[in-house]
Amino acid sequence: MDKVLVTGGAGLIGSRVVRKFLEECWKVTVVDDFSTGEPENIPSHPNIQVIIHDITVNKGLEKLFTDVDVVVHLAAVSSIPACEGDVGRAFEVNVRGLENVLNASAEGGVDLIVFSSSAAVYGEGKRLSETTPPKPLSVYGHTKLIGENMLRCLSEEERVRAAVLRIFNVYGRTRLGKGVYGVVDQFIDDAVNRRPLRIFGDGEQVRDFIHVDDVADAVYKIVEKFGKRFDIYNIGSGTGLSVKELAHIVLDAFKKEKLNIVYEPIREGDIRYSVADISKARTALGFQPRHDLREYVVTRAKNRRA
Ligand SMILES: NC(=O)c1ccc[n+]([C@@H]2O[C@H](COP(=O)([O-])OP(=O)(O)OC[C@H]3O[C@@H](n4cnc5c(N)ncnc54)[C@H](O)[C@@H]3O)[C@@H](O)[C@H]2O)c1
Repeated sequence: MDKVLVTGGAGLIGSRVVRKFLEECWKVTVVDDFSTGEPENIPSHPNIQVIIHDITVNKGLEKLFTDVDVVVHLAAVSSIPACEGDVGRAFEVNVRGLENVLNASAEGGVDLIVFSSSAAVYGEGKRLSETTPPKPLSVYGHTKLIGENMLRCLSEEERVRAAVLRIFNVYGRTRLGKGVYGVVDQFIDDAVNRRPLRIFGDGEQVRDFIHVDDVADAVYKIVEKFGKRFDIYNIGSGTGLSVKELAHIVLDAFKKEKLNIVYEPIREGDIRYSVADISKARTALGFQPRHDLREYVVTRAKNRRA
């Protein structure tokens, strides 16, 4: 049986990645410190092992990576505000933690590392493709770009084989938790709790929203199809939607709840326009997003009324 180690497996994306690998009959090890992830996100299954470990702590990490075929590295300080709020910790986890994971993977003879990078490495841009020069505008984006470069460098030295996923804005968190919400699930949570929807700035900022199950499918497709030493793929929907339009979709779906919007000052590091060109992932991996954002919001509103 093949074995995957998922760092950050208790988080939003990790919990779905773990399920996907279990469905495909892999053995799964989760390494997570539960700083934002939750034990309840991890399914109980005979083929899963959960290790509580902070990836910034080297001691004891290496032995977890023996007999592992694939590492999916998701553990990170995963939000722009959290990174701006504690820059030291952002670098410690997102850069030093990655270094520890890479060293342990190289020592353990891991065949492939899938790294969750982010659209934040690009900064601003329309139809961002993998050849668009990165220009991060946030601490978070900088930490992810350093991570990509570490992987590129080690793969050139033939110490690791790595696939980088530049993931756009993920939605699909269906229950409350201490993890960070993306704007889609934050608006839905506000609507469910009859709070006004808070928009930072004028709401004209455009994002590319991708469902978490589509991201999990992309991770699995990489593992099935990736035959190179190093490459980078955008994982998004390929279409843009403004935050204001999104707020109106939520207001419309929850129309009986008498909701309104409040505007607050724009946040540091907030990008104006960020939409993916996903043609490379489509062609190379057969990646095809299956989930529709509007349908997701309407379904969440219907479930709320049921
Ligand atoms: N959600 C998005 O919109 C999005 C977009 C682009 C990239 N990403 C990246 O994808 C990855 C997963 O994101 P997510 O949305 O699932 O975030 P999340 O915060 O829900 O999950 C991150 C997980 O990592 C764990 N973790 C954090 N620090 C750790 C440490 N030091 N040691 C061990 N575990 C640690 C957390 O407990 C959590 O379970 C992150 O690397 C993030 O930067 C996310």
